[in-house]
Parts: sequence; structure tokens; C-alpha cells
Amino acid sequence: MEIIHVSAECYPMAKTGGLADVVGALPKYQNKLGHFAKVVMPMHRTKFLYDNEWEVVHKGSFSMGTFYYDFTIIKEKTNKLDFDLYCVDINGMLDRERVYGYDDDTERFTAFQIAVLEWVSRWEHRPDVINCHDHHTALIPFMLHYCYSYNHISTIPVTLTIHNAQYQGWMGWNKGTYLPAWDSWRWGMLEWDHTINPLACGIKCADKVNTVSPGYMDELMREANGLEALFNYERGKCSGILNGIDYAVWNPGTDTYILDNFTEKDYDAGKLLNKKQLCREFGFDAELPLFIFIGRLVGEKAADLLPEAIIRMYAEAKDQFSFLILGSGEPAVEQELTALNNRWVGYYNSRMEYNEKLSHQMYAGADFLLMPSRVEPCGLNQMYAMRYGTVPIVRRTGGLSDTVKDYGEQNGYGICFNNASVDDILHSMRRALELYHDTKKLNEVRLAMMQIKNSWEVSAQRYIDLYSSIQ
Ligand code: GLC
Repeated sequence: MEIIHVSAECYPMAKTGGLADVVGALPKYQNKLGHFAKVVMPMHRTKFLYDNEWEVVHKGSFSMGTFYYDFTIIKEKTNKLDFDLYCVDINGMLDRERVYGYDDDTERFTAFQIAVLEWVSRWEHRPDVINCHDHHTALIPFMLHYCYSYNHISTIPVTLTIHNAQYQGWMGWNKGTYLPAWDSWRWGMLEWDHTINPLACGIKCADKVNTVSPGYMDELMREANGLEALFNYERGKCSGILNGIDYAVWNPGTDTYILDNFTEKDYDAGKLLNKKQLCREFGFDAELPLFIFIGRLVGEKAADLLPEAIIRMYAEAKDQFSFLILGSGEPAVEQELTALNNRWVGYYNSRMEYNEKLSHQMYAGADFLLMPSRVEPCGLNQMYAMRYGTVPIVRRTGGLSDTVKDYGEQNGYGICFNNASVDDILHSMRRALELYHDTKKLNEVRLAMMQIKNSWEVSAQRYIDLYSSIQ
């Protein structure tokens, strides 16, 4: 099957979060299954762009509202990622350093989507499916079906994968003219709550919709940032497919970012060496249990609870653990967490940045990973942690409930709690301290986690089955 993944980000070309990891891995595993999956994304100005060779495969132009744009599609020349990677360049619009966060993001991503369809509509053959990812690409199903210029490709099956339904890409009706001429009888497809809502529109117009875990799909039926009724109405075409992790990238046995490679057989010594190195770097005592948090410092991840939780935990058990934070996000949270750096020198530290290498070293060297997320569509960090023998402490929500089982339950291996609250976090950290000192149990848990198979093979096939159902 020929599959086109359309996404705002894709690892290693550009990454702000888990979406990039998924779009960088899923096509690779689909190709291993004998398919022909490719990715098309905006041409962000990243290191990967400059470090690699590209060829121009298409040039075109289109108008959006009263503006006229030329675009170029470039392709990475060497198939380095085990799938073809295409980038859309629109001068001054897409060729920027960051993926999101500009005032004209609506214009940028609308233009990106139009360029993708302009390109595909000029192919001599028809791909078997277009898989859109998140709201930045969710107008494609509408445009395919209802914009006159794409009539001849309107029967290409299209699926929408939702990695996060909190962000919906809302845009005012005044921007309805951005889309190429469309059948105005269909305005209702664009509309949700008096505005154009690209995510809602994608849910209505795609042939199939999936979230990145079954648990998250269940949750969206009840709580979906205003789209609950829509999910219920469209329930028939909705399903959840659990993400995998890329075992080629996330493998403690071969990971080149970490000091000492290890496997299920020698994890004890291997983790310790990595822990010592990490602790040396941050001035921690490697004898103490090491907790980490890695991720975006935003409300969804309940990062705002961290400062109070940390302060209270140190008040209660100072000298008994270390805590290291890596992430960036809301300035207020960043400031609070940074301010704590001087408070428990030798026990606490934080780095307000995105750092792929350090994150690998943290998964390898830490004992516990905290994920108190309020919303977690799948969550990859808990899976990375488990693969590296680090016990996840997670709130029971979305994909976290689907992937982590409390060690108090039969065959359990993680620590789970119910509420995104400081009290629940503290309770779980106390349980973690207890587990840390029960070496026999801790080793059982580590071994069990490292043996779990969260690889992409199975899920990549589930996506293929989904596409097959709409051929
Ligand atoms: C988003 C979600 C995260 C998920 C990832 C990949 O970042 O917040 O839970 O794992 O997408 O699907």
C-alpha cells in the first residue's frame, strides 16, 4: 500500500514532542511490513535540513485568500530514515526555525495543507491512503472532498490520527476564504461552535479517525475540550491504536547517547554505571533513589504541580532522594523550577531545555520517572523509561492506564495513582522510596518492565488494517 503521512513534525527532522517520534517511526515499520509509506511535512529550518542532501521534486503555486504563493517540494536524497521524507518549502512562511508558536500559524499550516494537495493532485497515480496527524493537517479531508480543484482525487481514502485533542486549530470564519473554492453548501463541515474548527472538521470528513491509545478514545467520549458530542456522534468510525516505540532508537543495548549499554541480563550493573555518571554531572549522591521528570512544562502534563510536590517532598524526606527535571514550557513553571536549583544543591536540579541526548541518559540512569499528566493521549516517555528499567509513576489516564500496571497488582510493574494532585504525587513518591529499598521487588519490577514488548510491529499492522477497511 502507498501511504502518505502528513504531519507538522517528524523525528529527526523536527521534534517538539511525541508526535514527531510517532511520525518518524510508524512509516519505517509500515515499510518493513512491505508497504510504501512516506512523510510530508513543512520545511522547518533545522539542523537536519542543513546536514542532509535534498532534491527538488516538484514546484507549484496556489492562491490563499488574496495572497499568491509559490511552493517547492524537496525530498531527502538518501532514504536515510528508511522512508521517503518530503518537505514543503514556502518562502517566508514555512522555512522558519520553530515548528509552532508564530502569530500566523493558521496561515502557515493552511498553506502547507493546500501545497500538499496541489502536489498530490498532480501525481500521475493515486496513493492508497493519506494519513493526517493532528489539527495542523486536519483540513485535508475537507479539502479533498469539497474543494472543486481536488475533485479528481476526492476518492483517496483519508484517515486522521489524533495525538492530542486539546489543540484544535480554531480559526475565525473570516479565514474561510483561505481554502481553495469549496462547495459552500458544506460550510457546516467546517463549523463547530461558531468558528472553523479544523480538528472537528477532520473528524467529520475523514473516513476513519483514530487516537493513539484505546483508553484516550474512551476518555474523549466524555471529555474532549468541547468535542465530546462529536466524538459520540462519529463513534462508528473512531478507534484507538496504541503507539509503539522505536526499538531501533530506544534500545539500552545499543544507544550511543548513554555511557554504558545494558540489556535485561546485566541491567543492574549497567543502570548503576549510567546513574553514577548522571549523578556526577549534577552533583547528586548515586546511592539515593533518583526521580526524573521529562517533558513539556504545561498544564496538560500537570507540570504546575511539580514545584509544590517537590517542596513538600523535600520537607518530608530531605536527604533521601534526588530529583532532576528536563523540559521547557510555561515561563512561570520554568521560573519556579529553576528557582529551586539553589535550594537543595546536591539533591535537586533542573534543565529548562529540550535535550534529546540528556533525556536518553536520564532514562538510563534514573530509578523513577514521574508523569502526573492531566491528559495523556498515549505517552511515550513511560514506555522509554520501562525499556531502560526505570519505574514509571503515572496518573491513571489515557495511554498511561493502557501501558502501566501498578506493582501492587498481579504481574504489575509501575506505580499508578488516580488524581492529578500534589497529595497523590507525594503518596506515590513515598511508595517509590519503599520500593527502592526492597531490592528484590525492585529487581523483579525492572526485569518485568524491560521485557514488555511495546515495539511498533503490531501497531503498524493495525494502521494497515485500518486503511484496508476503507479501500
Ligand atoms: C502527543 C501526546 C502524547 C502522545 C504523542 C504521540 O504528544 O500528548 O500522549 O504519546 O502525541 O502520539
